Order: sequence, then C-alpha cells, then structure tokens
Amino acid sequence: MTNRQVVLTSRPQGVAQAENFAIVERSVPRLKVGQILVSNRFLSVEPAMRGWIADTAGYARPVEIGSVMRALAVGEIIDSRHPEYHAGDIVTGWFGWQTHAAVGADAIVRRVTETDLPLSLALGVLGINGVTAHLALTLIGEPVAGDTVVVSTAAGSVGSAVGQIARILGCRTVGIAGGPAKVAQCRSIFGYDAAIDYKAAGWEAAISDACPDGANVYFDNTAGPISDAVHPLLAIGARIVVCGTAAIPAWTPWPSGPRVERHLLVKRARMQGFVIFDHMDRYADSVPQLATWVRSGQLRYQEEILEGIEACPDALAGLYRGENTGKRVVRL
Ligand SMILES: NC(=O)c1ccc[n+]([C@@H]2O[C@H](COP(=O)([O-])OP(=O)(O)OC[C@H]3O[C@@H](n4cnc5c(N)ncnc54)[C@H](OP(=O)(O)O)[C@@H]3O)[C@@H](O)[C@H]2O)c1
Repeated sequence: MTNRQVVLTSRPQGVAQAENFAIVERSVPRLKVGQILVSNRFLSVEPAMRGWIADTAGYARPVEIGSVMRALAVGEIIDSRHPEYHAGDIVTGWFGWQTHAAVGADAIVRRVTETDLPLSLALGVLGINGVTAHLALTLIGEPVAGDTVVVSTAAGSVGSAVGQIARILGCRTVGIAGGPAKVAQCRSIFGYDAAIDYKAAGWEAAISDACPDGANVYFDNTAGPISDAVHPLLAIGARIVVCGTAAIPAWTPWPSGPRVERHLLVKRARMQGFVIFDHMDRYADSVPQLATWVRSGQLRYQEEILEGIEACPDALAGLYRGENTGKRVVRL
C-alpha cells in the first residue's frame, strides 16, 4: 500500500512556504505490536505549525528536516495490532500530513464519537481550536457576565468560538478581523456585539469606541499592532489571554514593540500564556460541552475545505495571507 506524505525539506525564516515542503511516496510499513494503521480522512492546517517548524522559542521540538509534517488529523483505523483499537474505529490524533499513519496509541488524542456531526469538526470546533477557545477563555480569561471580551482573529476558528462562548456566558463581545467579509461574518454568524476591520482606516479609534467601559478580557491571537491598540483600553482587573502571535512575522531578529508593563500595573491586569498541550486531559470534559452547543445552534462554525494532499504545502502560507474563512482542513 502506498503512503503519500508531505515532508519538510528546508527550514524557513518566518512562515513556511510551499517550497519548504515536498510530497513523496513511500510504502506503508508493516505494523508492530501495539500499533494501529489510520487512513486519514481530514488533515488539519494550524497557524501554530509555523512554531512547530521554527527552531527558535518554541514550546515543542521542531519538526526535523526530511520528516513528515507534524499535524493533527482524523481518520479511520484500517488495521490494528493494539488490543483496545479496532478496524473501523474513528480517531483523531497526531497522524501527520500523510494519507496513512502507522502509529502507537500515544499518537491518538481521542476516539470520535459524535457520529451525528461532520467528521472534520474533530479538527476544528470539536478539536484543538474549540477546546483551546473554551479552556483558554474560561481558565485564564475568567469571564463574568457583563464583561466586555475583545477577541483578535475573531472570524477564525479559535476566535469565532471564543466570541460565541463568551456570549453564551453573558458577556458583551468585540471582534477584530481583517476585511469587510470577515467583519460581516463576525456580526451575522458569530453574533459579536461589535466587529472591527483592522485593515480599514480609523480602526484603532473604532476599537476604543466599541469598548466604552474598557476591555475586561482580551483574547489575543495576534500580538503586534492589534494588541498595541487594545492594551491601553484594558479595564481595571483585566485578564489578557495570550493564545497566538499571528501578527509577528519572524522571531529572528527578536522583535521589540511598545512596553506593556505600565498598562498592566495601572490596570492591575494579568497577562498569561496558554498552550493547549498542557490541558489534553481536559478534552474529555470540553468536547461534549462544545458538541452540545454546536447541536443547539449556540456555537456556529465555518470551515474551509481544501482538496487533496497536494493542497498541503501552500496551506500554511495561505493562513498567514489571511485567505481562510474558518477552520482550514484538507480532505483526502
Ligand atoms: N496557544 C494554543 O494552544 C493555541 C492553539 C490553537 C491555536 N492557537 C492560535 O490561535 C490563533 C488562531 O488560530 P486558528 O487556527 O483559529 O486560525 P485562524 O484564525 O482560522 O487563521 C489565522 C488567521 O490569522 C489572521 N492573521 C494572519 N496574519 C495576521 C496578521 N499579520 N495580523 C493579524 N491577523 C493575522 C488571519 O485572519 P484575518 O484575516 O482576520 O487577519 C488568519 O485567517 C493562532 O495564532 C494560533 O496559533 C493557539
């Protein structure tokens, strides 16, 4: 059986481009005892992949040159030498950008049991993005009904879920996104009380106008200029969730920017980073809650489905061009 794989061929400076990857064909290895063979159905494309490839300031070991690109995927087990997993089981986990994955059970994040919902959601609103939104907002943002919650990449996979969960919890939500189409999505699909296009003239004043009582929670997916505009608007006792740094083009040389300490001091605010991999044990509680909200229509999602493994090499660069509308996945 042939396995088509996307391998990293060179280490990029900044965001990986299509030329940093190659598609190769190898035969599927014979399973060892304890392994399963997954036929991948959907592959995930994450902004965080930029950090998984970079060899600076990461929280994970960088993907080695010549290796299959690290990725979450969802698929069906087609062969098993593990006593607890069987052919026909649907699982999501660290199966990589490839058509087939021969892996141990430690690569599995969870069995997918929401058979009434689309399979691809296991990579988005019921996967790393939805769980990150849910846990980072509630554990670090600690939203209280009546709070103003400001969200960057508000139309994206994580951001759209943050805005809607904050709304479910009784907060007023302000979304920041790039371009009129995404701003319209924020209002009409994701229910933000205010949505601001950070690419339009006067955007900083528009954010300020949308937060007359300040921002109690800032869910930060970008850092950079958007954060520079939000930090002066923090309310007393505000919580900043540092979830992503999409607006920082590269970490070499190390970028510098406005100093935030005075805002934190004066507003007695807290700024804390979040990495989902510290919270994998909470998936089992979070996913059923997210699925309940999806079924009730309180948590809406958008997906952008690219076709075929050939779409992978340019898919990450496209995210940083802001092309995606919703969670970007590749269907095999
Ligand atoms: N810490 C964690 O554990 C964790 C887990 C999952 C995801 N994340 C982070 O969460 C963020 C959102 O992830 P996602 O999967 O939901 O992606 P996404 O928001 O669906 O897609 C990424 C978006 O980033 C925005 N963007 C790209 N370049 C930008 C720039 N220079 N300035 C401002 N915005 C820019 C674009 O939206 P616009 O068109 O609106 O600019 C783009 O659509 C990412 O930063 C990701 O790394 C963190």
